[in-house]
Amino acid sequence: MIIAFDGPAASGKGTLGKKLAAHYGLRHLDTGLLYRAVAKAVLDAGKSPEDQNAALAAALTLDPARFDEAVLKAPAVGEAASIVSAMPQVRAALLAFQREFAAVPPGAVLDGRDIGTVICPGADVKIFVTATPEVRARRRALEFANAGRGMDEAAVLADIKARDDRDMNRAAAPLKQAADAHLLDTTEMDISTAIRAAIDLVEATRAGRGRG
Ligand code: DC
Repeated sequence: MIIAFDGPAASGKGTLGKKLAAHYGLRHLDTGLLYRAVAKAVLDAGKSPEDQNAALAAALTLDPARFDEAVLKAPAVGEAASIVSAMPQVRAALLAFQREFAAVPPGAVLDGRDIGTVICPGADVKIFVTATPEVRARRRALEFANAGRGMDEAAVLADIKARDDRDMNRAAAPLKQAADAHLLDTTEMDISTAIRAAIDLVEATRAGRGRG
């Protein structure tokens, strides 16, 4: 079974992906980490994230086995990731890895922006996760605070809006809900309610009742 979670920054798709993978005994890939790792390599090389040659070189030599998630989750890396991920050549370089990951039995849970539309258009279940920018900013600010990195919530909100704008309006694989994806709005949900709702969607789809 392949489950695709797509949605904007801090919508909850990463946590849902992890939890549902554990629930169903599937492997999990947070595809945002791939773009973050490309961005980090470019920044570490002293290059600008706008530098297409540097970004492509980084994408072609990526080693996901060596990812340090805590480092890659830094806000500056996310911002740069949003820039490199708009480059079609970077996306093309990362495509095979994602498809191969998904194809290994018994399947996988992938989360990102274009999983249901481009990477795994034939996924068994597609869930598009959203929440208002304000709620997402509050969650992200709390995460940073818990990690000992104080961040002004207004600054986090501005960053989220800028990233939404870039991720949704780029030409290459923009963030959008696949026609056959279920919409899961987590604005009013805590994480356990959202997990329950996502499992219900998977179960309904498996039972052949979920698609309209
Ligand atoms: O989900 P995230 O915040 O870790 O993603 C970081 C950036 O990577 C995000 O701004 C858009 C990009 N991204 C993408 O374009 N496609 C994906 N499948 C995952 C992430």
